[in-house]
Amino acid sequence: MSTGGRRVTAFAPGKLILLGEHAVVYGHRAVALAVERGTTVTLDPCEGPTRLADADPALRADPRLARALAAVLPAEGLAVTLATDLPVGRGMGSSAALAVALVRATARLAGREADLDECIAQGFVLERIFHGSPSGLDHTVSARGGAVVYRRTDDGPELSPLDLPAPLPLVVLDTGRAGDTAALVAGVAARRPGVDPALAAIGALVDATLPALRAGDLVTVGRAMDEDQRLLEAIGVSTPEIEALVTLARQHGALGAKLAGAGGGGVVIALCPEPDALLAAAQARGVPAMRA
Ligand code: PMV
Repeated sequence: MSTGGRRVTAFAPGKLILLGEHAVVYGHRAVALAVERGTTVTLDPCEGPTRLADADPALRADPRLARALAAVLPAEGLAVTLATDLPVGRGMGSSAALAVALVRATARLAGREADLDECIAQGFVLERIFHGSPSGLDHTVSARGGAVVYRRTDDGPELSPLDLPAPLPLVVLDTGRAGDTAALVAGVAARRPGVDPALAAIGALVDATLPALRAGDLVTVGRAMDEDQRLLEAIGVSTPEIEALVTLARQHGALGAKLAGAGGGGVVIALCPEPDALLAAAQARGVPAMRA
């Protein structure tokens, strides 16, 4: 495959899981949102074997990266540059954004645009390299953009766009620690069937909260996030650091707060229509925080 001597570049966004992580692995619905931040892949023609020319250090450190690149890129002739403004390994879908951006960039090498189906199918191949047996939520949201209700079925993913009346006022607080998604998902699997009622309760909570999301009823959505956090604690994926940030958010105006992603670290999301007090409190404590 030849780039015709020209540089190609492609971007894909990260995501936040608003409600339903972990339960989504077992066929329950989850709600996720694409964010503005994401990952950019740049491919430059070069002599010799395809190689990583430059990458965000956190992306470069991932031992699975070389396998993912080899799965889609030609063995010869490309220098790969990866840049991201997502915190890596924190549940914001940095690997999924990388996967979808790589699929898009690879299609551009051939002078065409990857369509949604291709981004989802090929992105899943790459996500499996990073995460073993993921639900497919992350890369699907990255490929599609916007807000999505997602369910994994035996016949494949079931996906419906979720129309929000306005963007949700979310603040992201970073624990500064990466959670190991594969290990956390395996840990939940090992605690079944004891955790099955909590997983089912998460699924029921997602279903019950969809009307409030469509109506922009932030108070109900915030309460659901609090309840989801309680259930995520019950299935053993929260940590004291996560819970400290959830408490901080609730003390500074959040209508609800929870971990987002696999847990074990990662980020906390807070639904916070007046975010200034929370952003200032986070800054005073040295907690990285951003509007989503
Ligand atoms: O931490 P992340 O962004 O990889 O999200 C994991 C979400 C889980 O539901 C825990 C796993 C999955 O594959 O959906």
